Amino acid sequence: MITDIFSVKGKTAFLTGAAAGLGRAMAEALGENGAILWLYDRDSGALEATAKALRGQGAKVTTVLGDVTDAAALTQAIADLVAAEGRLDICITNAGISDASPSLLHDVQDADWTRVIDVNLNGVFLTCRAALGHMVAQGHGKVITVASMWGLAAPAGAFPRPAYAASKGAVVNLTREMALHYADKGIQINALCPGIFQTETRPRDPTAAIAYTPMGRLGRPREIKGATLFLASSASDFMTGQTLVIDGGVLAR
Ligand SMILES: NC(=O)c1ccc[n+]([C@@H]2O[C@H](COP(=O)([O-])OP(=O)(O)OC[C@H]3O[C@@H](n4cnc5c(N)ncnc54)[C@H](O)[C@@H]3O)[C@@H](O)[C@H]2O)c1
Repeated sequence: MITDIFSVKGKTAFLTGAAAGLGRAMAEALGENGAILWLYDRDSGALEATAKALRGQGAKVTTVLGDVTDAAALTQAIADLVAAEGRLDICITNAGISDASPSLLHDVQDADWTRVIDVNLNGVFLTCRAALGHMVAQGHGKVITVASMWGLAAPAGAFPRPAYAASKGAVVNLTREMALHYADKGIQINALCPGIFQTETRPRDPTAAIAYTPMGRLGRPREIKGATLFLASSASDFMTGQTLVIDGGVLAR
């Protein structure tokens, strides 16, 4: 069956920021299709609630409470996954935050800039570094970085967020660089670039975002599931170093 190429049944997946929003939808996509999930998030309440819901749907789920800026915790979590499950097939670096508020560059505060870069860029580096050693040793793996359409174009015309734009642009090019490092090692690394989705935390006021999106609506978290399955499964085996944009038409302008 053609759908077999999208199978993730029995595959092990590590996802950061998986307690809520797009990360939760990605975990659902993999869990509903038989993957073994390890969910890493800093929000214990949301993490356990998500794990409970996924287990209720029959998924095998392990939770790890931690922050993606904590290199030791990430490395340990992924080592624990490999020790328990035997291998790491899929790694999704989804945890991310936005600038505290829209602002022009000369108004950006040091702490805000540093925190966004730390979570959105350093967090991706730390997660990938921890995952890729295992993937090289086993000779296969799928890494999905979660960037943004604002990693491919600047958001200022609509939503000025300089730290976010810088971090997501860096994730896109880090994805390309990593893809070339591991292209001949059985590992595919691609970036998902969502447009504006409605999640629990954002956008707080969706009116401008809806008007900005050619489809006249925001993305629904479940609409990230198909692309997640594609990039996590053998359906994408000859694809690496690419960006997959899901944005309701914004970047087509
Ligand atoms: N929602 C959108 O419109 C949109 C658009 C483009 C890109 N993205 C990207 O998608 C990803 C998910 O976004 P979302 O809207 O679902 O966010 P969200 O705020 O709804 O959920 C983020 C999850 O990540 C966790 N998290 C945040 N910082 C963390 C950290 N330092 N360590 C561990 N966990 C952490 C949170 O606890 C939460 O569970 C982010 O990388 C974001 O930049 C989102």
